[in-house]
Amino acid sequence: MIRVNKIICNSKFCDCMQEIAECEKERVFCGHDIEHLLSVARIMQIIAHENKMEIDKEIIYAAALLHDIGRARAYRFGTDHAEDSAEIARRVLADCDFNNPEADEIVYAILHHNDSGQPNELCALLRKADKLSRNCFCCPASCRCKWSDDKKNKGVTV
Ligand SMILES: [Fe+2]
Ligand SMILES: [Fe+2]
Repeated sequence: MIRVNKIICNSKFCDCMQEIAECEKERVFCGHDIEHLLSVARIMQIIAHENKMEIDKEIIYAAALLHDIGRARAYRFGTDHAEDSAEIARRVLADCDFNNPEADEIVYAILHHNDSGQPNELCALLRKADKLSRNCFCCPASCRCKWSDDKKNKGVTV
């Protein structure tokens, strides 16, 4: 997991996380801090293991850690956070020694993690874990959340 540990020490990654924290200081809805990113990574890893999926652990962690990294830019400029995250992820992945095919797979999953479009295996896994990471069933802001009722996570099982 050397390359994953490079991501969490990467200056672009750390700067973006700091900006996200500033943007989310007053946020009543669930945030996009390191706890969210690691929850997504661990849930992805559990699902992949239970289903005997052959996806490298570093690829899973890289996708999870970077999938919302463009949130601050999206808050500030009203842009699409998946597109912003994909663009920033591309640069962080290059800094952290992911090769082009690996970066392509991760960036594709990040770019489409909120679409209804056809996901690849990694993207489907990311989308599922992203939802399961949210405790909508006990969220005090649930009634004000823009997520539709069917999108909300109502249970704890993976
Ligand atoms: Fe997201
Ligand atoms: Fe997320």
